[in-house]
Amino acid sequence: MKLTFYGHSCIGIQTGDAHLLFDPFISGNPLAENIDIDSVPATHVLLSHGHGDHVADAEAILKRTGAMLISNAEICDWYAAKGIKRSTPMNIGGETDLGSFRVRFTMAQHSSTMPDGASGGDPGGFVILTGEGNIHHAGDTGLMLDMQLLKRHALRFACLPIGDNYTMGFADAVEAAKFMGVDTVVGMHYNTFPAITIDLEAAKAAFASANIQLLLPAIGETIKP
Ligand code: NI
Ligand code: MN
Repeated sequence: MKLTFYGHSCIGIQTGDAHLLFDPFISGNPLAENIDIDSVPATHVLLSHGHGDHVADAEAILKRTGAMLISNAEICDWYAAKGIKRSTPMNIGGETDLGSFRVRFTMAQHSSTMPDGASGGDPGGFVILTGEGNIHHAGDTGLMLDMQLLKRHALRFACLPIGDNYTMGFADAVEAAKFMGVDTVVGMHYNTFPAITIDLEAAKAAFASANIQLLLPAIGETIKP
């Protein structure tokens, strides 16, 4: 399994032949100007909610790659109206088998409006169940007790927002990791905008004091967590 960080909450996961791309927001992110969205691989595009900083490049990448869209039903319908019919519409608590992996749509405490103001349904996150281990991409969320439900998936790692203001900050993300029982966290949703700019040394120290590994790959970097 390989993970590539494309900035903000956009993460690529390669497992077997599948390239999962979460929350593509690249062309609008000045920090990710070195990423060419036309070369980002995707067999599946997963959208946690409808906000522009999670979906901005989804249409272009879905149309270029023919990847399958995985999201809630409202977001899949919104893309179907744009001609993107290959999708897996889900809702909170559901799990489905996509062959090379299984996916669950999990809770998030956030909001979800599409860029044009349409309803983006309920926001969520994803648990991906693979032969190489199970992982979580939390989308945008605050800390919530329901995160304890993820412990039973024996997560290999979790991608958690740490930037505060719009989501939980790093101190709450440490608590989230404890709820989930994960010892490795990939930090996301930080430093993209002034409101989510954080003290990275303080974030590293907070995770270190809880004996949780915080991975902060550079934009464009591929790691094997
Ligand atoms: Ni959001
Ligand atoms: Mn966001």
